[in-house]
Amino acid sequence: MIQTSSEPLSLALPKGRLMENVSDFFEQKGLSFSFDNRKLVSHDESGRLKIFLVKNSDLPTYVNHGIAGLGICGSDVLYESGYKFFNLMTFDFGGTSMCIAGMKGHKRQDDERKLSVATKFTKFTSDYFHKQGIPVEIIKLNGSVELAPVLGLTPYIVDLVETGNTLKANNLEVLEKLEDIKVHLIANPAYYKLHYKSIKKIVSLLKEKQ
Ligand code: PRP
Repeated sequence: MIQTSSEPLSLALPKGRLMENVSDFFEQKGLSFSFDNRKLVSHDESGRLKIFLVKNSDLPTYVNHGIAGLGICGSDVLYESGYKFFNLMTFDFGGTSMCIAGMKGHKRQDDERKLSVATKFTKFTSDYFHKQGIPVEIIKLNGSVELAPVLGLTPYIVDLVETGNTLKANNLEVLEKLEDIKVHLIANPAYYKLHYKSIKKIVSLLKEKQ
């Protein structure tokens, strides 16, 4: 799976809300790309990058296996994966916060022995509260997590908050911000060592001030 140095570098990008930011940023650096009609593999205009469009939560798997040597991903998803990567740069765009939230005005009950939380981020939630010695019961959801307190599945959620609009629209509020989430350019360590020179050039280009 590891490519020779004459081939383009392989880069996995996450489908969804980060794509527009990434695409605009790469365009400014002379690395424009687009995906024709439902295609999931493309090249940048300069031919230096072969780009795969993957589901956000699958991105660490592709990079960990060296299928994509590089990837752009949020620290939330990277932490959940449990894999180790080289962090080559942190972007200014795409930052969010991991927060615990509940219904507006919800008061914690005296008989609540455990914090009952619904989340997509089970590893983060479990590690975060266990480190603080707070017992937590976690229910895994895959999306629309804000529904859990509204429908009575759990009183609390741990989720990403960007604008806060989703919480507001569902009568929820942030109880506490738990962590800042940033977007990173990551590399598979073995791939990085093999393609050190060309990766360095791309990273310098991406870090250049406009
Ligand atoms: C994310 C996150 C929140 C929402 C927060 O969900 O899980 O639901 O965005 O953004 P806001 O603060 O700007 O409203 P996403 O859109 O990825 O969809 P999902 O519900 O399928 O996880």
